[in-house]
Amino acid sequence: MKLFTSEDKLSRVVTDNYHLLPVINRFGIRLGFGDATIGEICAERDIHVPFFLVIINAFHHPDYFPKSEFLKFSPRLIVDYLRHTHQYYLSGVVPKMEKQLENLVESSQTNTEDLKLIILFFRKYKSELLYHVKDEEDSVFPYVLRITAAYEDGVPLSEEDWGKSIETYEKEHSDVDEKMTDLKNLVIKFLKADYNDNLCNDFLITLFRFERDLIDHSRIEDKILVPMITRIENILKNDQ
Ligand SMILES: [Fe+2]
Ligand SMILES: [Fe+2]
Repeated sequence: MKLFTSEDKLSRVVTDNYHLLPVINRFGIRLGFGDATIGEICAERDIHVPFFLVIINAFHHPDYFPKSEFLKFSPRLIVDYLRHTHQYYLSGVVPKMEKQLENLVESSQTNTEDLKLIILFFRKYKSELLYHVKDEEDSVFPYVLRITAAYEDGVPLSEEDWGKSIETYEKEHSDVDEKMTDLKNLVIKFLKADYNDNLCNDFLITLFRFERDLIDHSRIEDKILVPMITRIENILKNDQ
């Protein structure tokens, strides 16, 4: 497995795997980076190089997930990355999926039951996903940041926060991930309506890409953020 290093040109990262483009954007990096290396671009933009490398390498190689490396970073870095990922889902992926499904439906002359089922399933999925993201943005992440401020800067925790635990805060992700896979399979296995093939493929490719992004996102939340905050909660409780 060849991992990207700070010496590699960022343009090579994109040509090796264009799926990494939205991941790079989450760090505020946009195209036009010429021949600059990862190290040079990160230095210019004040981006934490080891964190950037772990994120792109873990996304690029699904089997590469260096938990101990991840656990060394501040929860602030992780939350910032996860929030940018949420923004990408809400302002980019969800409207795109919606538009592509709309185009697909319009291309069908008969609007049969299988197509109606996919529309229903998608609507339900969308509302569950939005609810999940909102809960993290409004409750989980602010709590993580308060716990981090208590641990890193000694900011006192409120009475209310003392009784909380990230384990109960962060609900199961399996639902959001699995339902995405179900939607994808529904289209692949059961869509029989007379639709436009190209429009259907566009929709399906978006689902595949989103499924992969979502798995990467959820594992950072479940396998990194939750254990990280549980550890800090225990340290704070023992110090009390
Ligand atoms: Fe999330
Ligand atoms: Fe989540």
